[in-house]
Amino acid sequence: MSETKQQAKVTVNTFRQMKERGEKISMLTAYDYTMAKIIDQAGVDSILVGDSAANVMHGWPTTLPISLDQMIWHGAAVTRAVSHALVVIDMPFGSYQASVEQGVNSAVRIMKETLADAVKIEGGARVAQTIKQITQAGIPVVGHLGLTPQSVNAFGGYALRAKEQAEADQLVADALTLQEAGCFAMVIEKVPASLAASVAQQVKIPIIGIGAGSQVDGQVLVGQDMLGMSDMFRPKFVRHYANIRQTVADAVKAYVADVKTASFPSPEEQY
Ligand code: KIV
Repeated sequence: MSETKQQAKVTVNTFRQMKERGEKISMLTAYDYTMAKIIDQAGVDSILVGDSAANVMHGWPTTLPISLDQMIWHGAAVTRAVSHALVVIDMPFGSYQASVEQGVNSAVRIMKETLADAVKIEGGARVAQTIKQITQAGIPVVGHLGLTPQSVNAFGGYALRAKEQAEADQLVADALTLQEAGCFAMVIEKVPASLAASVAQQVKIPIIGIGAGSQVDGQVLVGQDMLGMSDMFRPKFVRHYANIRQTVADAVKAYVADVKTASFPSPEEQY
């Protein structure tokens, strides 16, 4: 596929059709215009403006500090770049926990101020009523179960979730509840592959996995992780498709050397 070929816009209907015909959905995170444009033109099906922006773009140790305003700022930059992928924006910690009304107001702001295609919200049955109201307002919602990073303090870390039968049973029940509440897709993060596969079989909506094995309907990774931009975060579910950290470091070293030796700019590079 040519890098610049225009492709039809991916919608919630495309997601449903892809699950029906067994076509895997590719999703990557992006948080800015330049990266979103590259990823979109390369043909990814969906871009998630994740609250992992707190870690990746702002250097926070958790996703908790990022605000609704900041998510909207990142989200609007991404939607301005994208013509093909379905853009999903995370509802950050503190934007929906207080009440159903707070969740609806936050989702409406995200859609109004970014022109995104959907929002994503973490949690199971406890957020079902909020999801119901948001979808009834005409806003498509992606659920998020398993390791939900906004609950890192309650979990006591980022370990594999739902290893025990009770938590696995709860996750299946939550997935069915979220489907019933109106989610059109669901992210399932860092759970045993067999459990994610079983959920994908039991629900009609696409399950997008991260650290959840291959027998789900799609995969999502943080763009900076799969591009090899960080030397700090390397869980076993991240495959490096490039070593951009090294490429950038080499380019910067070459630039510094050229400036120091006055070989940049050359006569052709000046007016
Ligand atoms: O914020 C994020 O990037 C996410 C993905 C890891 C699924 O929620």
